[in-house]
Amino acid sequence: MKILVTGGAGFIGSHVVRRFVQSYPKYHIYNLDALTYAGNLENLSDIKEYSNYTFIKGDITNEEFINGIFHKYNFDGVIHLAAESHVDRSIADPMAFVKTNVIGTVNLLNAARDCWENDFENKRFYHISTDEVYGALGEVGLFTELTAYDPNSPYSASKASSDHFVRAYGETYNMPYVITNCSNNYGPNHFPEKLIPLFINNIINNRPLPVYGDGNYTRDWLYVVDHARAIDLVFHKGKNAETYNIGGFNEWKNIDLVKLLCKQMDSKLNRPVGESEKLITYVKDRPGHDLRYAIDASKINKELGWEPSVTFKEGLVKTIDWYLSNKEWLKNVTSGKYKEYYNIQYNN
Ligand code: NAD
Ligand code: TYD
Repeated sequence: MKILVTGGAGFIGSHVVRRFVQSYPKYHIYNLDALTYAGNLENLSDIKEYSNYTFIKGDITNEEFINGIFHKYNFDGVIHLAAESHVDRSIADPMAFVKTNVIGTVNLLNAARDCWENDFENKRFYHISTDEVYGALGEVGLFTELTAYDPNSPYSASKASSDHFVRAYGETYNMPYVITNCSNNYGPNHFPEKLIPLFINNIINNRPLPVYGDGNYTRDWLYVVDHARAIDLVFHKGKNAETYNIGGFNEWKNIDLVKLLCKQMDSKLNRPVGESEKLITYVKDRPGHDLRYAIDASKINKELGWEPSVTFKEGLVKTIDWYLSNKEWLKNVTSGKYKEYYNIQYNN
């Protein structure tokens, strides 16, 4: 089986590529990635020599290139993760999100449809999406697969749009597809623009921890390796034309999470208790900030037997340990353009 993974050099994609390359020696995994600021081949240095792995540098917005690789390799399956993924960047530059997340996805769908020539036997287009398409919850309730789409940020609007295109290709052209909508991931290789890795990096460097608004926003966190396990399961066992929600059963208010992270970092860095908490700084809120995300993951649990294997406390310790032992990785990704981004986003 030849599988195209898009965005495999990014955070979640690299864990998916590693899992598939190592677990399925009979598959060939093609990792297609444009290597934007978020893509980093260092994330995959441990598997780059495997004989069932090929990296292809390319941009999913380039229609001709995408058609070309489908005809060259004739993939049996696609696991589509390539995306612009950060809400704050989508507020600053929505068009980049339309291009990659919407047009890029439609390019892949067209190429798969044309290459497979309506013979969809044993073919699968797996689209990786987010719970953010459902919009914001109040203090109670959970997102189910039947919750109406109600995206609030340019990022979530672009992901919602791409989900709709995938579904439409299923209805219109009989494209065999599956979609998963997952909650916030955390873990090794997470680019330090997102809450947890940004704050770990700032604590290491004694920099302020910019908490948006009052910090009373809630997210449901899942360890990235558990997301990769779910993706493996859905790719192989998920029902055609279905959506599955994936979540951590693990809701945290930002401020509580940040305080827990500070405590764990103090202990790892041998700093006095309470030292890192002093770095917490409340800053201007994100526009259109969704109050709460929380996932009802009972469908994937009942139908496919998936549940998270790592508790939040374990996952956070593994994550912190990874960043502390990969300072070179952190240094490399936070040099150059990152500084420019940071100064504009946090105004310092
Ligand atoms: P990421 O930003 O870490 O990685 C994205 C990858 O896509 C990078 O390697 C980048 O180089 C590549 N890419 C971007 N534009 C491209 C283009 N035009 N052509 C080819 N490659 C391109 O993102 P992530 O956090 O790993 O997220 C992966 C997927 O999972 C995304 O689709 C995202 O919407 C979804 N998702 C993420 C989370 C999360 O918490 N991070 C949660 C749910 C769903
Ligand atoms: P983030 O990691 O950007 O993920 P998402 O917006 O996709 O959920 O943010 C997680 C939460 O943390 C969200 O409520 C915004 C908040 N946040 C901050 O308070 N400060 C920050 O510097 C960042 C990046 C996020």
